[in-house]
Amino acid sequence: MVNICIRVRNLSVAYDEHYVLKNISMDIPCGELVVIAGPRGSGKTTLLYALSGFIPHIINCRIEGDIEILGINPLRDGIETLVDRVFLLHSELNLHFLTEKVLDELRLHTEDMEYLNEIVEYLGLREYLDKDPKKLSAGLKQRLALALALTKNTKILLLDEPLSYLDMNSIQVVTGILYDLVLKGMTIIVSEHRIDYLLPIANKIAILVNGELRYFGTPRSHQALETIINSGMRVPPILKLFTRLNNILRFRSIPLTINELMEELTLRCST
Ligand SMILES: Nc1ncnc2c1ncn2[C@@H]1O[C@H](COP(=O)(O)OP(=O)(O)O)[C@@H](O)[C@H]1O
Ligand SMILES: [Mg+2]
Repeated sequence: MVNICIRVRNLSVAYDEHYVLKNISMDIPCGELVVIAGPRGSGKTTLLYALSGFIPHIINCRIEGDIEILGINPLRDGIETLVDRVFLLHSELNLHFLTEKVLDELRLHTEDMEYLNEIVEYLGLREYLDKDPKKLSAGLKQRLALALALTKNTKILLLDEPLSYLDMNSIQVVTGILYDLVLKGMTIIVSEHRIDYLLPIANKIAILVNGELRYFGTPRSHQALETIINSGMRVPPILKLFTRLNNILRFRSIPLTINELMEELTLRCST
């Protein structure tokens, strides 16, 4: 039986009477990676804030419907009930850093030096322990923020646009870490408008348009593809290419990486 980690029912959120999330319902199984996609202003950050308990407990707004996370209702029971189990990484990572040294930052979160060392090794932070977190490159900041998340008993990791300022190399490192964490059993929900690099490792995609959930399911479906194209968000080049080629070649499945596209082409050329 599928173990549901997050249950959202008829969730609506309004700032100043203006609804920015409208009647959202979704079930997220434990141990999956879900990408929340959609154009700017479609409500991605607001949804992450609702799932973290950040709203309505920290940011004031009107909220209707129900959320259940690991059996807890943060709307009713308060944000404290989720601390340590749900970790939200803001898009502005400097908000997380309170000290002037990477090591001090990690020590603020855990006193278990053995575990801290494990995390430092896992995220390749050893040579940066003396550096100022706010002066690190965007990729290293993201790795440090992930390290902070791992110092807790985090079961659900929420990330708001984690790839925004990263170069290609850091994108590969960070998406590799996210994939590994999911394999280890963590549930990860990522808001992103650059979905190209996340779709191949995503179990599901949630597409928001104007506060409405237009699609929720596997990224490898024609309905997902159509919704992405019609949503007004940036369409990954691989999907654009697939749409053109598929008219002529009739692929077996929707490729999400160049390698998958090449495999399909090779198959078509050899038949
Ligand atoms: N604190 C706030 N007060 C009023 N309006 C807000 C607030 N935060 C976000 N909004 C509005 O809510 C809508 C959705 O925003 P957001 O969730 O940040 O979208 P996204 O992350 O998809 O860009 C936008 O129109 C934004 O202007
Ligand atoms: Mg946002």
